[in-house]
Amino acid sequence: MLRLERLRADHAPALLAFEHENREYFARSISDRGDAYFEEFASLHRARLAEQDAGVCHFHVVVDDHGELVGRVNLVDVEEGDAELGYRIGERAAGRGMATAAVEEVCRLAATAYRLSTLTAYTTLDNVASMTVLGRNGFTVVGEAGVGGRPGLRYRRRLGAEPGGR
Ligand SMILES: CC(C)(COP(=O)(O)OP(=O)(O)OC[C@H]1O[C@@H](n2cnc3c(N)ncnc32)[C@H](O)[C@@H]1OP(=O)(O)O)[C@@H](O)C(=O)NCCC(=O)NCCS
Repeated sequence: MLRLERLRADHAPALLAFEHENREYFARSISDRGDAYFEEFASLHRARLAEQDAGVCHFHVVVDDHGELVGRVNLVDVEEGDAELGYRIGERAAGRGMATAAVEEVCRLAATAYRLSTLTAYTTLDNVASMTVLGRNGFTVVGEAGVGGRPGLRYRRRLGAEPGGR
């Protein structure tokens, strides 16, 4: 149904097209990236790859059955066995379980390839789809948090435990 590809230099054109196409769609539920992100995309992409090489982050694109880039799922700020999870799925692929499956797969990678023991995630209170994705993947609410200036929740999942476990 989908596969995750670790971010590479040659993903840049498809990723930029994906972000352009979905800019308004994403801005309905999360902070807009701002014009500078699009204007400086090439250098930002190189900086992301450098961070990834340093082991601070693990970035992935989500690719569907047809080889199309339909989303991204990232682990950032790797520190002491934990990382922050973030994800976005484009409008054309929405509501088909893509985010749920991509998060499931990145949790598997986090535990096995990246040797992490916990993941942390944040979502605003009005992002029902995102809360559903986290809940279905065994994340539980551990507190309140401001997310982009809006009220939100902080979630955590211990890896190695089955979804639904603690
Ligand atoms: C949140 C997001 C990742 C969900 O992606 P997706 O691939 O559509 O998610 P799934 O198909 O796995 O859906 C999860 C569930 O939420 C439901 N859902 C989707 N959009 C919804 C909405 N606007 N309101 C309520 N439920 C919604 C889905 O129907 C699904 O439930 P179902 O299987 O019972 O139908 C996607 O909408 C997105 O990228 N949004 C912008 C970025 C973002 O919010 N990222 C998360 C920040 S923490």
